[in-house]
Amino acid sequence: MNPYRKPLIAGNWKMHKTVAEALDYAARFKKLLESLSATELPDVVLCSPFTALHALSQQLSQESIAAISLGAQNMAACDEGAFTGEIAPRMLSELGVAYVILGHSERREYFHESDADVNAKIKTALRHQVTPIACVGESLSQREAGQTDEWVQRQVIAALQGLSDKERQKIVFAYEPIWAIGTGKVCDAVEANRVIGLIRQTTGVSRIRVLYGGSMKPDNAEGLLAQPEIDGGLVGGASLDPDSFFQIVQAAMPVKV
Ligand code: PGA
Repeated sequence: MNPYRKPLIAGNWKMHKTVAEALDYAARFKKLLESLSATELPDVVLCSPFTALHALSQQLSQESIAAISLGAQNMAACDEGAFTGEIAPRMLSELGVAYVILGHSERREYFHESDADVNAKIKTALRHQVTPIACVGESLSQREAGQTDEWVQRQVIAALQGLSDKERQKIVFAYEPIWAIGTGKVCDAVEANRVIGLIRQTTGVSRIRVLYGGSMKPDNAEGLLAQPEIDGGLVGGASLDPDSFFQIVQAAMPVKV
């Protein structure tokens, strides 16, 4: 981590947790966070399914849990309209949702989201003051063919197409090598640091935050977060349990407790 960029730890629950389960999680997680120094906490984001966002938003505001922000896992590329099943950015900002994961590899692979879709969604999110967490990363075959750098740079350039310098500064990127997602095979910390440095360089914005994602767990988070280019984590499996997610948040604190 770098002292000029505030660390960010985001939990991506994917398609897990009912409203009742989400509320139970938030109550337990809040108790754990209270044991830490509020001023030293990283930005903490819970990216729940759409269905739990409203209830979570009410619970977090009632209990004034300022340390936790909410994120969505996807969003429509336009403001509103006849798009059955889609969620508009205004619907998210109304709930106080501050972040949205865009271009996750699962959305690219299973829902055929293209680089152009991701770019359009980033622009829409920014127009509605929702911070995009834009995901990029290579497949195993691309890595083995030595195409990682070229592929990741291409995704970053496509994501930023048509954005001003000011807009670029408002984005968070997540480097998520596809072969590391949900597999337990974490990317080597030095290599993740190298690719993340390349991503930052490609954006041309030295203060942009770039996270690592892909099998980040309590036992490897500290090593990853100790790297100077890595500003935090996008955590899937290990964010589903408040205790393990809390341990990752602790690993992002300046003084380990
Ligand atoms: P994982 O998922 O931590 O379970 O590998 C990360 C992600 O998909 O964002």
